[in-house]
Amino acid sequence: MVDSASHYKTPPPGEGCAAKAAQAGCLWSFGRADETMLEQRKADHIRINLDQEVSSSLTTGLERYRFVHQAVPELDLAQVDPATILLGKKLRAPLLISSMTGGTERAREINRRLARAAQSHGIAMGVGSQRAALFHPELAGTFRVRDIAPDILLLANLGAVQLNYGYDVEHCREAVEMIGADALILHLNPLQEAVQPEGNVNFAGLLKRIEAVCRTLGAPVVVKEVGWGISEQAARQLASAGVSAIDVAGGGGTSWSEVEKHRATSHSMRRVAGRFRGWGIPTAESVLMARRGAPDLPIIASGGLRDGVDAAKCIALGASAAGIARPFLKAAAQSDEAADEAVVETITELCIAMFAAGAGNIEALRQTPLLKD
Ligand SMILES: Cc1cc2nc3c(=O)[nH]c(=O)nc-3n(C[C@H](O)[C@H](O)[C@H](O)COP(=O)(O)O)c2cc1C
Repeated sequence: MVDSASHYKTPPPGEGCAAKAAQAGCLWSFGRADETMLEQRKADHIRINLDQEVSSSLTTGLERYRFVHQAVPELDLAQVDPATILLGKKLRAPLLISSMTGGTERAREINRRLARAAQSHGIAMGVGSQRAALFHPELAGTFRVRDIAPDILLLANLGAVQLNYGYDVEHCREAVEMIGADALILHLNPLQEAVQPEGNVNFAGLLKRIEAVCRTLGAPVVVKEVGWGISEQAARQLASAGVSAIDVAGGGGTSWSEVEKHRATSHSMRRVAGRFRGWGIPTAESVLMARRGAPDLPIIASGGLRDGVDAAKCIALGASAAGIARPFLKAAAQSDEAADEAVVETITELCIAMFAAGAGNIEALRQTPLLKD
């Protein structure tokens, strides 16, 4: 953990907002993260997400949408088929266990519980940022799940901003190969970095670096937010950079400014982070924006989804799949059985929603109209 005194040090002189803010006595020592801190940070993130209230003060906006209930669905529930294809791989249901963790022993156990559930039920899974394991290869095993989940759509993960801090396509390739992933997720988290004591806040010129990774990696690149959503403009930029899919990770669920607030080491830092609890594009809105900005790309809806009904609504709004993070973390922190049960319940809810809305498969669900309050 960073000691509080270091937050008040003035970083090296430079140009731009962070440097100016620093000169003005800014609270953060931007860009001071080093790889030895990452393991502690990962442990903090799990602990805070499990023990603290870290929800956004926004809602996802999904509560404003309703299916038209069909009393004559003309379907046999047993025949409702939620299978789909995402990034060329068949899923038994259009669900993703969103990227969360790795890097500690507890994270290893959580990843393996999530992976067992994903394999049993044919859904996709992402691991958390693998940056620590690129520097400490002994941590790679805490991310690896292929031995128990040989068939799932498995997604590697790195912070996109690291491409401005010395990482290149070779690091991306290493992350993919480390876990035998099918694709790489690059996460965009400008606000989290900005309210993190050791944040990497230089996001300038990142798009062309993302574009270079898309061109040369040789595996699909998915770009996601972490809980503040993707705007129409961002979706258009990412589509033109050549990404293979966009995960909106919109507002209304886990708030990473709230998580970082709990890691803050001074009252001022805590107050600044707290101001952003209501920030972001609600997930429902972000799915529609991303669809407009990137009409030809698969859109993954996530951020605040809490059950299979939410997932069904997102697919009716135009998403190709739906991701859930914190609820699956909470289940996996308990036991294998709890992780399995959480996935089974989500799939069951999704199938029942499809049945009662009269949609026998995912294509039909995507065409099903929603009423908006
Ligand atoms: C403990 C935890 C760790 C996370 N770590 C990462 C990460 O390393 N990379 C990433 O792209 N997203 C990460 N996320 C963000 C999630 O993938 C997701 O976008 C966000 O939590 C919103 O979804 P939710 O409201 O369902 O939790 C993490 C989430 C949690 C709860």
